[in-house]
Amino acid sequence: MSFDIIRSGRAVLHVTDLEESKKFYDALGFIVTEESDTELYLRGLEEHNHHSLLLKKKESPILEVISYKVRTDDDLDQLAAKLEQDGNQIKWLDKGTQKALGRAFRYQDISGLPVEFYVEMDTVERKLQQYQLYKGAKVQRIDHFNCMVSDVEQAHDYYIEELGYACSEYTAGEEDKIWAAWLHRKPSVHDVAFMNGPGPRLHHIGFWLNDPMSLIHGCDVLASLGYSPNIERGPGRHGLSNAFFLYLRDPDGHRIELYNGDYFTGDPDSKPLRWELDDPMRQTFWGHEAPDSWFDEATEVLNVYTNEKVETKEAKLKKRKPTFVI
Ligand SMILES: [Fe+2]
Repeated sequence: MSFDIIRSGRAVLHVTDLEESKKFYDALGFIVTEESDTELYLRGLEEHNHHSLLLKKKESPILEVISYKVRTDDDLDQLAAKLEQDGNQIKWLDKGTQKALGRAFRYQDISGLPVEFYVEMDTVERKLQQYQLYKGAKVQRIDHFNCMVSDVEQAHDYYIEELGYACSEYTAGEEDKIWAAWLHRKPSVHDVAFMNGPGPRLHHIGFWLNDPMSLIHGCDVLASLGYSPNIERGPGRHGLSNAFFLYLRDPDGHRIELYNGDYFTGDPDSKPLRWELDDPMRQTFWGHEAPDSWFDEATEVLNVYTNEKVETKEAKLKKRKPTFVI
């Protein structure tokens, strides 16, 4: 590869009521870096970049973009050239249109997801050792995106063969068809996961916590503040990725995962771990079932060229039971 994608960096979500959103994300322990009447810039306690989650006040909730950081300007140019060569239309972002962000472009990826790449983001003070600020789930940093796509194998192959991602774990069914795949650039289980389902849609954004107790304390704080209905699934342990998880729905229904417990995947001889589709422990190691909403509901996504909603396609692979696994 002539370019180096470093990690998942930020997501931009549209929300309908910034005040309600702010209360919710504040309860989880996010830091507000900056805000206006129409935008809220959030980051985790250890993050030294300006934000990892940007909420924009709009008429209806949708995902504007998921975004990855690349190493250098040259990497960004090489990546743009490569994607153009593959037939993609690259939309460079005009300087100054994205607060805190340096050079960046967007495109609609092979699954129809709105994807952004950037080199630099303004740096701010890490709050890691300002323990007096720790509250809620003490969210530390962004970890991954999880997306439903109609053709997982196509996404898996393109991200690995053309963009240089590595697969840490995957689920396979009959005829070895890939149902879901966990792909990474940073040495963790994933920066992005693709799951078989009607797509393109954003299933959730995962944020990393220090430990399981932060997650449990987060549940207590959420319940105390009246957010029990927003707790959708968990706490629990996935077999797949070993994640200790909690899934929440924000006031607009966007799904946030609080996440801890995965492992180092940086060795080049790390082999992808295969899970069978009919192995119940891959979903929930302890055996309890996920609610239907977790399988059926996800955030729709925006077309980066037209600013209109992308129509979802049916999943290529069918199964009697839901197939999503994390
Ligand atoms: Fe996740």
